[in-house]
Parts: sequence; structure tokens; C-alpha cells
Amino acid sequence: MRALRGLMGPLLAVAVLVLQPAGSLELQCQVPLIAHGRLRPVHNFTSGGAAMVECDAGYVPAGTGTVRCLSSGRWQPRVPACVPGRCPSPPALSYADRSPQREFLVGSTVTYFCRNGYTMIPEVSPTITCLKNFTWSSIPTLCQMVQCPNPTISHGQEINVKDAKYTFGRQAAFQCDPGYVLWGSRRAQCGSDGTWSPPVPFCDKVCDPPPQITSGQHTASRSDLFPYGYEVKYSCAAGLSLIGDESIYCTSTDGENLGWSGSAPECRVVRCPRPDVEHGRMAPPRHTFPYGVSVRFSCDEGFVLRGDAETWCAANSTWQPPLPSCVPVQCPEPQVVNGRLKNARDSKTRYPANTTVTFECLHGYHFSGGGPAAFGDTGTATCLADGKWTPLPKCKKQGEADICEEVGDIKAAFECGVPMEEVRTLLEVQKLFLEIQKLKVELGLSNKVIL
Ligand SMILES: *[C@@H]1O[C@H](CO)[C@@H](O)[C@H](O)[C@H]1NC(C)=O
Ligand SMILES: *[C@@H]1O[C@H](CO)[C@@H](O)[C@H](O)[C@H]1NC(C)=O
Ligand SMILES: *[C@@H]1O[C@H](CO)[C@@H](O)[C@H](O)[C@H]1NC(C)=O
Ligand SMILES: *[C@@H]1O[C@H](CO)[C@@H](O)[C@H](O)[C@H]1NC(C)=O
Repeated sequence: MRALRGLMGPLLAVAVLVLQPAGSLELQCQVPLIAHGRLRPVHNFTSGGAAMVECDAGYVPAGTGTVRCLSSGRWQPRVPACVPGRCPSPPALSYADRSPQREFLVGSTVTYFCRNGYTMIPEVSPTITCLKNFTWSSIPTLCQMVQCPNPTISHGQEINVKDAKYTFGRQAAFQCDPGYVLWGSRRAQCGSDGTWSPPVPFCDKVCDPPPQITSGQHTASRSDLFPYGYEVKYSCAAGLSLIGDESIYCTSTDGENLGWSGSAPECRVVRCPRPDVEHGRMAPPRHTFPYGVSVRFSCDEGFVLRGDAETWCAANSTWQPPLPSCVPVQCPEPQVVNGRLKNARDSKTRYPANTTVTFECLHGYHFSGGGPAAFGDTGTATCLADGKWTPLPKCKKQGEADICEEVGDIKAAFECGVPMEEVRTLLEVQKLFLEIQKLKVELGLSNKVIL
């Protein structure tokens, strides 16, 4: 049924009877009240007249829109109601889908959203409304294909370019200029979020190929690129020693240009002479002495090391520092207070080990002090393998008590933590001893006086 057009003011037709000019009463149909619409007569509402249902904008008659007034005063067919109208199915939009409803009544809305790989054009509304004239509000161009930024890389370029549009799904492959190495992935694809995945790589400088060496080799192959941080290890042919740093690195001194961390090592025959040290021993024991080997020495008993105990084989086939030597141990000149060497010919500034010398005390002195070296009027001492003398004898004034020694004993007793009681006893003994000595002196003195 066709929708009625044109608007009219509210109709309040309630007349049932129309007074004819002739004064006669003519039967009329009742004018019905229709929500959102009205009945409009084609001529008049008298029997036999026809009327049309006219609905408000957005409404349509729910049935036949033309009715006829019968002589019985009824409408034929029944006057239909005005019900909300519908829009046709919403149109399909490129690269978009819509909310999934089925009824499209006037006033309802439909929202579109872009498919994967497409984005909404900014400031375009994705919603359309079913208008009162049963058409959809204007249909926008809503979605555009996702676009990735142009994949530019410095010191490199995209290869095999077929089209210059970097839209969703587009693949790109990259290559660096000669002398540059690619960091990252050689291939990338424009993703639905508008970024390249994996990210667009970058091209970095590389070092020149590492230097070659004679009689040796390095770990890099001819086709390698040598980016920052690359390590090249050198090795020498069998029997040759590697002189210098085993590894060099691609590095930068100015933060800008790249170069090798140092010069390449050298391969040479380096053999140090067997390090023989008389009266000495080498540790660890070994038989070959190529470059870099280090050895330690120690001396036999009775000998002492002069020089550095450790030395290593240097690049010029010499030991650095020079080999030490083992020299015989010697004792210094022995000093005996109030005594001297019995044999003046024995007097030297240094004495080899195992030398035994004999002392005698000066006139008026005699050996004392219970040491094993004291035998009546002579004393001896022997130079030991560690460069020290056996305890030297001591010469005391004749008749003089060895008070110092005794006191020394007491002092030692204190230090050893002897109980106080014992110390007191000791001191008392000491006192007694001193008194006896004093008495002796007095006695000697009085003897002389008597004589
Ligand atoms: C009403 O319409 C009928 C049929 O068309 C016509 O005969 C009659 O004269 C009309 N009445 C008036 C008052 O116009
Ligand atoms: C429907 O109404 C809208 C606005 O109310 C108007 O722009 C459009 O032209 C109308 N469509 C038709 C087919 O009359
Ligand atoms: C050998 O090299 C060392 C440094 O490693 C140097 O001190 C020494 O003088 C050199 N000796 C000779 C004989 O060249
Ligand atoms: C000293 O004597 C001991 C034992 O008689 C001997 O083993 C040692 O080799 C000697 N030392 C020297 C340096 O003559």
C-alpha cells in the first residue's frame, strides 16, 4: 500500500450527522479516531462516499488505505490503523559490516564497522538512521584500506618494488648498500594496525675485512660482513707461537667510523732456551719452552734465590725477567761482646754454611750462660744452611752474676703466665742469690784487706 503524502492539521472530526440544506437527515459514517493518522474524504462521508486513510510521516496504514461508507453507516473494509513504517534493508558498504538487526523501523539506526585491514575515514559517522520518508540517511564512504608508512631505510632500499602503495597486507623486502649490514628482518609486511611487522630493518656500517696473517689464519670467512662488535680470532700453524692479541674486534674510536680494535697478531717460531739454574729447581717441570710459558724456580737447601723467582718466555726468545741464580747461603760476621775469634785468620765478612768458628773471651771475662756453645774457656758457633749462626757464646765479667740473664728468665716466666705464687718464690730466690753474691764480694774484699 502506498504511503500518503502531505500533512494536515489535527483533525477533530466527530460529526456524525450532517444537516442537509433540505433539512432532511442523511445517514453518515462515523469519522473514526486514528492514532498517527486520519481519514480524508474523497468527497463527503455520506453513504456511498469514499475516504482514504492518511498517516503521519513515518507511519503507514496497516491494511487497505481506501474505505467506503456503506448505507448501513459502516466503513468497508474496516478503517486500518497507522503503524510505524520500515526502511528497506540497509545498503552494503565497501570493506564494512553492520550491526546484525533484521527490523528497520523508522527511527532505528544501523552502525557499520570496518573489516580487518581497513580503517574508518576520520570524521565520518558510522551510523545511519531510518528516516520518516522510509529512506536511510545519507550513506557514507566509511572505510579505507589501512596504510603503512613508506618503509624507507638509510643506506639501503626496498627491493622488487611492484607498486608504491603500502596498504594492509603489502609485503616489502630490503637490502643494504655495499659496506653496510642489515640489522633486523629482510622482509616485512604491512599489518592491519598500520605498522610494519617485523619492523623495518636498518643498515649499519661494517668493518673492512680483518687483516690476513702469514703462517696463520682467522675465524672469519671471505663472504662475512663485519658489523660493530664482531670478533675475529687468529690462530697459528702448528709449532708457531701467536705474538700479540689472539682476538680483534670491530669497534669504533670516534663513535662514528668503524675499525679493528688493534693490529693482527703475528705467527713466529719462539723457543726460549731451557732454563737451567744451578742448585735450583723449576716448577712445574716441563721440557718445551715456547712463547708465553712461565716457570718458577726454587733453590736447593743451603742456597738462596737471587733475582725473580718467576720468568716467562718473551717474543724475542729470551726469558723475561732474566733467569735468577741460586747462590750459597752465607752467615754474617758473628759478634760476641767482650769476646773475639780465637783464630784471627778466621775473620771474614761472610761465612759459607757449615763453617764453624771458635771464640775466646777477652781478659777478665769468661763464657757463661748455659748455652751448648760454652765449654770452659772456649765457645764455638756454626753457620747453618738458613744463613744463621748457632747460638753465639756470651762473655761475662769474671765473678759477675748473670743478673741480666736471671732477670730475663723472670720476665719470660711472667710472659708465660706462671702463677703469681711461683713468681714470688722466684723473686725471693733471686733476692737470696743477690745477697750471697754481695756477701762473696765483701768476703773477697776483706780477704784482700787481710792480705
Ligand atoms: C456527497 O456525495 C454524493 C456522491 O458523490 C453526492 O451525490 C452528494 O451530492 C454529495 N453531498 C454533498 C452535500 O455534496
Ligand atoms: C527523505 O528525507 C530527507 C530529509 O528529511 C531528504 O533529504 C531526502 O531527500 C528524502 N528522500 C526522498 C526520497 O524524498
Ligand atoms: C726481549 O724483549 C724484552 C721485552 O719483552 C726486552 O726487554 C728485551 O730487551 C729483549 N731482549 C732482546 C735481546 O732483544
Ligand atoms: C753441610 O753439611 C751437611 C751435613 O754434613 C751437608 O749435607 C751439606 O751439603 C753441607 N752444606 C754445604 C753448603 O756444604
